[in-house]
Amino acid sequence: MKRIAILGTGSFAPEKILTNADLEKMVDTTDEWITTRSGIRERRIAEKDEVLSKFAHGAAQQALERAGMDPKEVDLILLATVTPDQPIPATSCFVQHMLGATHAAAFDLSAGCTGFIYALSIADQFIRSGKYRTVLAIGGEVLSKYTDWTDRSTCILFGDGAGAYLLRGEEGERGILETALYADGSLSDFITMPGGAGRYPPNVKEHIDARLPFIKMRGNETFKVAVRNLTEVSLEVLRRHGLTPADIAWLIPHQANTRILGAVADRLGLPHEKVYMNLEYTGNTSAGSIPIAAAEMVEKGLLKEGQVVLSSAFGAGLTWGGALIRW
Ligand code: UT7
Repeated sequence: MKRIAILGTGSFAPEKILTNADLEKMVDTTDEWITTRSGIRERRIAEKDEVLSKFAHGAAQQALERAGMDPKEVDLILLATVTPDQPIPATSCFVQHMLGATHAAAFDLSAGCTGFIYALSIADQFIRSGKYRTVLAIGGEVLSKYTDWTDRSTCILFGDGAGAYLLRGEEGERGILETALYADGSLSDFITMPGGAGRYPPNVKEHIDARLPFIKMRGNETFKVAVRNLTEVSLEVLRRHGLTPADIAWLIPHQANTRILGAVADRLGLPHEKVYMNLEYTGNTSAGSIPIAAAEMVEKGLLKEGQVVLSSAFGAGLTWGGALIRW
Protein backbone atom coordinates (compact mmCIF):
# COMPACT_ATOMS: atom_id res chain seq x y z
CA MET A 1 0.00 0.00 0.00
CA LYS A 2 1.22 3.52 -0.79
CA ARG A 3 1.57 5.79 2.24
CA ILE A 4 3.04 9.22 2.91
CA ALA A 5 6.07 8.40 5.08
CA ILE A 6 8.10 10.78 7.24
CA LEU A 7 11.66 10.32 6.03
CA GLY A 8 13.23 13.04 8.15
CA THR A 9 12.48 15.54 10.90
CA GLY A 10 14.26 18.74 11.88
CA SER A 11 14.05 21.73 14.18
CA PHE A 12 15.75 25.04 14.77
CA ALA A 13 15.48 27.45 17.68
CA PRO A 14 17.09 30.81 18.42
CA GLU A 15 19.90 30.88 21.00
CA LYS A 16 18.45 33.55 23.28
CA ILE A 17 16.57 32.22 26.33
CA LEU A 18 13.92 34.22 28.20
CA THR A 19 13.19 32.75 31.65
CA ASN A 20 10.24 33.27 33.97
CA ALA A 21 12.65 35.19 36.23
CA ASP A 22 13.30 37.60 33.30
CA LEU A 23 9.51 38.03 32.86
CA GLU A 24 9.12 38.82 36.56
CA LYS A 25 11.17 41.98 35.85
CA MET A 26 9.01 42.94 32.85
CA VAL A 27 5.38 42.45 34.02
CA ASP A 28 3.47 41.82 37.25
CA THR A 29 3.89 38.03 37.38
CA THR A 30 5.76 35.28 39.20
CA ASP A 31 7.63 32.17 38.17
CA GLU A 32 5.23 30.23 40.39
CA TRP A 33 2.13 31.57 38.59
CA ILE A 34 3.52 30.89 35.11
CA THR A 35 4.76 27.40 35.99
CA THR A 36 1.60 26.23 37.71
CA ARG A 37 -0.84 27.80 35.20
CA SER A 38 1.00 26.94 31.98
CA GLY A 39 3.90 24.55 32.70
CA ILE A 40 6.37 26.91 30.98
CA ARG A 41 9.71 27.81 32.64
CA GLU A 42 11.61 29.35 29.73
CA ARG A 43 11.28 30.00 26.00
CA ARG A 44 13.57 30.81 23.05
CA ILE A 45 13.29 34.34 21.65
CA ALA A 46 14.56 35.73 18.33
CA GLU A 47 17.17 38.47 18.26
CA LYS A 48 16.15 41.69 16.46
CA ASP A 49 17.73 40.61 13.17
CA GLU A 50 16.34 37.05 13.22
CA VAL A 51 13.27 36.19 11.13
CA LEU A 52 11.17 33.09 10.50
CA SER A 53 12.96 32.08 7.26
CA LYS A 54 16.16 31.52 9.27
CA PHE A 55 14.44 29.08 11.64
CA ALA A 56 12.35 27.40 8.91
CA HIS A 57 15.44 26.95 6.74
CA GLY A 58 17.41 25.46 9.66
CA ALA A 59 14.62 22.99 10.43
CA ALA A 60 14.11 22.00 6.77
CA GLN A 61 17.85 21.60 6.19
CA GLN A 62 18.08 19.20 9.14
CA ALA A 63 15.08 17.17 7.94
CA LEU A 64 16.67 16.85 4.48
CA GLU A 65 20.04 15.84 5.97
CA ARG A 66 18.48 13.23 8.25
CA ALA A 67 16.64 11.78 5.24
CA GLY A 68 19.79 11.97 3.07
CA MET A 69 17.81 13.83 0.43
CA ASP A 70 18.94 16.41 -2.14
CA PRO A 71 16.86 19.64 -1.88
CA LYS A 72 16.33 19.46 -5.64
CA GLU A 73 14.14 16.39 -5.11
CA VAL A 74 11.59 18.44 -3.14
CA ASP A 75 8.40 19.12 -5.15
CA LEU A 76 6.56 21.36 -2.68
CA ILE A 77 7.38 23.45 0.41
CA LEU A 78 4.47 24.20 2.77
CA LEU A 79 5.14 26.66 5.57
CA ALA A 80 2.51 26.96 8.30
CA THR A 81 2.89 30.26 10.15
CA VAL A 82 1.12 33.41 11.31
CA THR A 83 4.41 35.31 11.72
CA PRO A 84 6.04 35.51 8.27
CA ASP A 85 9.18 37.57 7.48
CA GLN A 86 7.05 39.99 5.42
CA PRO A 87 3.46 40.07 4.12
CA ILE A 88 4.80 39.72 0.55
CA PRO A 89 6.29 37.41 -0.66
CA ALA A 90 5.48 34.15 1.10
CA THR A 91 8.30 33.20 3.52
CA SER A 92 8.33 29.70 2.00
CA CYS A 93 9.79 31.29 -1.16
CA PHE A 94 12.73 32.65 0.87
CA VAL A 95 13.18 29.16 2.33
CA GLN A 96 13.02 27.56 -1.12
CA HIS A 97 15.86 29.82 -2.28
CA MET A 98 17.94 29.32 0.89
CA LEU A 99 17.66 25.52 0.53
CA GLY A 100 18.36 25.51 -3.21
CA ALA A 101 15.13 23.54 -3.67
CA THR A 102 14.86 24.88 -7.20
CA HIS A 103 12.18 22.46 -8.39
CA ALA A 104 9.79 23.07 -5.50
CA ALA A 105 6.57 25.06 -5.53
CA ALA A 106 6.14 26.99 -2.28
CA PHE A 107 3.39 28.62 -0.29
CA ASP A 108 2.58 29.70 3.28
CA LEU A 109 -0.60 28.73 5.07
CA SER A 110 -2.28 30.31 8.06
CA ALA A 111 -4.25 28.15 10.49
CA GLY A 112 -2.86 29.38 13.82
CA CYS A 113 -1.45 26.74 16.13
CA THR A 114 -3.20 24.06 14.01
CA GLY A 115 -1.12 25.12 10.98
CA PHE A 116 1.21 22.12 11.01
CA ILE A 117 -1.68 19.63 11.04
CA TYR A 118 -3.19 21.52 8.08
CA ALA A 119 0.21 21.31 6.32
CA LEU A 120 0.42 17.56 6.93
CA SER A 121 -3.06 17.04 5.54
CA ILE A 122 -2.35 19.15 2.43
CA ALA A 123 0.93 17.26 1.87
CA ASP A 124 -0.97 13.97 2.22
CA GLN A 125 -3.50 15.02 -0.44
CA PHE A 126 -0.86 16.27 -2.92
CA ILE A 127 1.22 13.10 -2.64
CA ARG A 128 -1.75 10.71 -2.56
CA SER A 129 -3.19 12.26 -5.73
CA GLY A 130 0.09 11.63 -7.55
CA LYS A 131 0.71 15.33 -8.20
CA TYR A 132 3.90 15.41 -6.09
CA ARG A 133 6.18 12.79 -4.55
CA THR A 134 8.26 14.74 -2.00
CA VAL A 135 6.94 17.53 0.23
CA LEU A 136 8.59 19.56 3.00
CA ALA A 137 6.02 20.49 5.64
CA ILE A 138 7.35 23.19 7.95
CA GLY A 139 5.71 24.90 10.93
CA GLY A 140 7.30 27.85 12.67
CA GLU A 141 6.83 31.20 14.32
CA VAL A 142 8.56 34.31 15.57
CA LEU A 143 5.72 35.17 17.92
CA SER A 144 7.97 37.33 20.11
CA LYS A 145 7.83 40.08 17.46
CA TYR A 146 4.01 40.22 17.71
CA THR A 147 3.81 39.82 21.48
CA ASP A 148 2.59 42.69 23.64
CA TRP A 149 5.33 42.65 26.29
CA THR A 150 3.09 44.71 28.61
CA ASP A 151 0.28 42.08 28.57
CA ARG A 152 1.05 39.51 31.28
CA SER A 153 -1.77 37.21 30.17
CA THR A 154 -0.11 36.45 26.79
CA CYS A 155 3.59 37.40 26.96
CA ILE A 156 4.40 34.56 29.36
CA LEU A 157 3.20 31.91 26.89
CA PHE A 158 4.95 32.25 23.56
CA GLY A 159 8.29 31.14 22.16
CA ASP A 160 10.04 31.18 18.77
CA GLY A 161 11.32 28.36 16.56
CA ALA A 162 10.48 26.02 13.68
CA GLY A 163 10.21 22.32 12.90
CA ALA A 164 9.89 20.29 9.70
CA TYR A 165 8.93 16.87 8.34
CA LEU A 166 10.19 15.59 5.00
CA LEU A 167 7.33 13.54 3.52
CA ARG A 168 7.46 11.14 0.61
CA GLY A 169 5.09 8.68 -1.02
CA GLU A 170 6.47 5.17 -0.41
CA GLU A 171 5.21 1.61 -0.66
CA GLY A 172 4.71 0.08 2.80
CA GLU A 173 2.80 0.51 6.05
CA ARG A 174 4.65 3.56 7.44
CA GLY A 175 3.16 7.00 7.06
CA ILE A 176 0.10 9.19 7.50
CA LEU A 177 -2.94 7.04 8.30
CA GLU A 178 -5.57 9.73 8.81
CA THR A 179 -6.02 13.49 9.13
CA ALA A 180 -8.99 15.61 10.21
CA LEU A 181 -9.27 19.40 9.96
CA TYR A 182 -11.84 21.73 11.52
CA ALA A 183 -12.57 25.45 11.88
CA ASP A 184 -15.20 27.54 13.64
CA GLY A 185 -15.00 31.17 12.56
CA SER A 186 -17.80 32.16 14.95
CA LEU A 187 -15.10 31.96 17.68
CA SER A 188 -12.58 34.04 15.70
CA ASP A 189 -12.30 36.66 18.46
CA PHE A 190 -10.78 34.18 20.96
CA ILE A 191 -7.22 34.57 19.59
CA THR A 192 -6.46 37.56 17.35
CA MET A 193 -3.94 40.06 16.10
CA PRO A 194 -6.39 42.75 14.94
CA GLY A 195 -3.88 45.24 13.49
CA GLY A 196 -1.28 45.11 10.74
CA ALA A 197 -3.53 44.15 7.81
CA GLY A 198 -6.63 45.39 5.97
CA ARG A 199 -8.97 46.07 8.90
CA TYR A 200 -6.51 48.17 10.92
CA PRO A 201 -3.65 48.93 8.51
CA PRO A 202 -0.12 49.39 9.85
CA ASN A 203 0.21 52.87 8.33
CA VAL A 204 -2.19 54.47 10.86
CA LYS A 205 -0.54 55.74 14.05
CA GLU A 206 -3.73 55.29 16.15
CA HIS A 207 -3.67 51.57 15.38
CA ILE A 208 -0.15 51.24 16.71
CA ASP A 209 -0.96 53.41 19.77
CA ALA A 210 -3.97 51.19 20.53
CA ARG A 211 -1.59 48.18 20.40
CA LEU A 212 -3.63 46.54 17.66
CA PRO A 213 -0.74 44.79 15.85
CA PHE A 214 -0.21 42.47 18.84
CA ILE A 215 -1.57 39.05 19.76
CA LYS A 216 -4.61 39.07 22.06
CA MET A 217 -6.22 36.03 23.61
CA ARG A 218 -9.26 35.17 25.71
CA GLY A 219 -7.15 32.55 27.46
CA ASN A 220 -9.59 31.00 29.85
CA GLU A 221 -12.38 30.57 27.28
CA THR A 222 -9.86 29.21 24.78
CA PHE A 223 -8.66 26.73 27.40
CA LYS A 224 -12.09 25.13 27.80
CA VAL A 225 -12.79 24.77 24.07
CA ALA A 226 -9.24 23.47 23.53
CA VAL A 227 -9.69 20.58 25.98
CA ARG A 228 -13.01 19.54 24.41
CA ASN A 229 -11.96 19.84 20.77
CA LEU A 230 -8.52 18.26 21.16
CA THR A 231 -10.15 15.27 22.85
CA GLU A 232 -12.88 14.91 20.22
CA VAL A 233 -10.58 15.22 17.20
CA SER A 234 -8.07 12.77 18.73
CA LEU A 235 -10.81 10.20 19.22
CA GLU A 236 -12.16 10.85 15.74
CA VAL A 237 -8.94 10.14 13.82
CA LEU A 238 -8.43 6.99 15.90
CA ARG A 239 -12.02 5.84 15.36
CA ARG A 240 -11.80 6.40 11.59
CA HIS A 241 -8.89 3.97 11.58
CA GLY A 242 -10.54 1.45 13.89
CA LEU A 243 -8.19 2.28 16.79
CA THR A 244 -8.50 3.49 20.40
CA PRO A 245 -6.13 5.54 22.60
CA ALA A 246 -4.74 2.23 23.93
CA ASP A 247 -3.24 1.58 20.47
CA ILE A 248 -1.00 4.64 20.36
CA ALA A 249 2.62 4.79 21.49
CA TRP A 250 2.66 8.59 21.75
CA LEU A 251 0.48 11.65 21.69
CA ILE A 252 2.62 14.50 20.30
CA PRO A 253 0.24 17.43 20.77
CA HIS A 254 0.45 21.16 20.16
CA GLN A 255 2.39 22.42 23.19
CA ALA A 256 -0.14 24.94 24.54
CA ASN A 257 -0.37 24.32 28.28
CA THR A 258 0.45 21.33 30.52
CA ARG A 259 -2.95 21.60 32.22
CA ILE A 260 -4.77 21.44 28.86
CA LEU A 261 -2.70 18.43 27.80
CA GLY A 262 -3.17 16.69 31.15
CA ALA A 263 -6.94 17.14 30.91
CA VAL A 264 -6.95 15.79 27.33
CA ALA A 265 -4.88 12.75 28.39
CA ASP A 266 -7.34 12.06 31.25
CA ARG A 267 -10.34 12.27 28.92
CA LEU A 268 -8.66 9.93 26.45
CA GLY A 269 -7.72 7.53 29.28
CA LEU A 270 -4.09 7.91 28.22
CA PRO A 271 -1.23 7.60 30.75
CA HIS A 272 0.46 11.02 31.04
CA GLU A 273 3.84 9.41 30.20
CA LYS A 274 2.55 8.82 26.66
CA VAL A 275 1.97 12.55 26.10
CA TYR A 276 5.22 14.15 24.94
CA MET A 277 5.67 17.63 26.38
CA ASN A 278 8.61 19.98 25.94
CA LEU A 279 6.85 23.32 26.49
CA GLU A 280 8.63 23.67 29.81
CA TYR A 281 11.65 24.96 27.84
CA THR A 282 10.15 25.91 24.45
CA GLY A 283 6.99 27.80 25.42
CA ASN A 284 4.10 27.76 22.97
CA THR A 285 5.64 27.98 19.49
CA SER A 286 2.24 27.74 17.75
CA ALA A 287 2.59 26.05 14.32
CA GLY A 288 6.17 25.06 15.22
CA SER A 289 5.39 23.09 18.34
CA ILE A 290 4.51 19.63 16.97
CA PRO A 291 7.42 19.21 14.53
CA ILE A 292 9.87 20.72 17.07
CA ALA A 293 8.71 18.14 19.64
CA ALA A 294 8.88 15.26 17.14
CA ALA A 295 12.38 16.21 15.97
CA GLU A 296 13.50 16.24 19.60
CA MET A 297 11.94 12.80 20.16
CA VAL A 298 13.82 11.45 17.13
CA GLU A 299 17.08 12.83 18.60
CA LYS A 300 16.32 11.09 21.90
CA GLY A 301 15.49 7.82 20.12
CA LEU A 302 11.92 7.85 21.45
CA LEU A 303 10.15 7.30 18.14
CA LYS A 304 10.48 3.77 16.78
CA GLU A 305 9.53 2.53 13.35
CA GLY A 306 6.02 1.04 13.33
CA GLN A 307 4.75 2.94 16.38
CA VAL A 308 1.34 4.59 16.02
CA VAL A 309 1.63 8.28 16.88
CA LEU A 310 -1.18 10.79 17.24
CA SER A 311 -0.82 14.55 16.91
CA SER A 312 -3.58 17.04 17.59
CA ALA A 313 -3.64 20.81 17.71
CA PHE A 314 -5.87 23.75 18.45
CA GLY A 315 -5.55 27.46 17.80
CA ALA A 316 -6.60 30.78 16.28
CA GLY A 317 -9.49 30.64 13.86
CA LEU A 318 -10.62 28.83 15.82
CA THR A 319 -9.10 25.82 14.13
CA TRP A 320 -8.33 22.31 15.31
CA GLY A 321 -7.23 19.05 13.79
CA GLY A 322 -5.56 15.69 14.20
CA ALA A 323 -3.13 13.45 12.34
CA LEU A 324 -2.57 9.75 12.93
CA ILE A 325 0.79 8.42 11.75
CA ARG A 326 2.50 5.04 11.68
CA TRP A 327 6.09 6.13 12.33
O1 UT7 B 1 -1.96 27.83 21.47
C1 UT7 B 1 -3.20 28.22 21.01
C2 UT7 B 1 -4.26 28.08 21.95
N1 UT7 B 1 -3.96 28.76 23.19
C3 UT7 B 1 -4.17 28.14 24.29
O2 UT7 B 1 -4.55 26.99 24.28
C4 UT7 B 1 -4.04 28.91 25.59
C5 UT7 B 1 -5.17 28.54 26.49
N2 UT7 B 1 -5.19 29.24 27.74
C6 UT7 B 1 -4.27 29.09 28.73
O3 UT7 B 1 -3.26 28.42 28.57
C7 UT7 B 1 -4.60 29.70 30.06
O4 UT7 B 1 -5.90 30.24 29.99
C8 UT7 B 1 -3.59 30.80 30.53
C9 UT7 B 1 -2.28 30.15 30.97
C10 UT7 B 1 -3.37 31.80 29.43
C11 UT7 B 1 -4.18 31.51 31.75
O5 UT7 B 1 -4.50 30.60 32.78
P1 UT7 B 1 -5.96 30.64 33.47
O6 UT7 B 1 -5.94 29.65 34.55
O7 UT7 B 1 -6.99 30.47 32.40
O8 UT7 B 1 -5.99 32.09 34.10
P2 UT7 B 1 -7.05 33.27 33.86
O9 UT7 B 1 -6.87 33.86 32.51
O10 UT7 B 1 -8.41 32.80 34.26
O11 UT7 B 1 -6.55 34.33 34.95
C12 UT7 B 1 -6.63 34.06 36.34
C13 UT7 B 1 -6.04 35.24 37.09
C14 UT7 B 1 -6.62 36.59 36.67
O12 UT7 B 1 -6.73 37.39 37.83
P3 UT7 B 1 -8.16 37.60 38.54
O13 UT7 B 1 -9.05 38.22 37.48
O14 UT7 B 1 -8.62 36.23 38.96
O15 UT7 B 1 -7.84 38.51 39.68
C15 UT7 B 1 -5.56 37.18 35.79
O16 UT7 B 1 -5.56 38.59 35.77
O17 UT7 B 1 -4.64 35.34 36.86
C16 UT7 B 1 -4.31 36.68 36.44
N3 UT7 B 1 -3.16 36.59 35.53
C17 UT7 B 1 -1.90 36.54 35.95
N4 UT7 B 1 -1.35 36.60 37.19
C18 UT7 B 1 0.00 36.52 37.29
C19 UT7 B 1 -3.17 36.50 34.18
N5 UT7 B 1 -1.91 36.41 33.71
C20 UT7 B 1 -1.10 36.44 34.80
C21 UT7 B 1 0.29 36.37 34.97
N6 UT7 B 1 0.80 36.41 36.21
N7 UT7 B 1 1.13 36.23 33.91
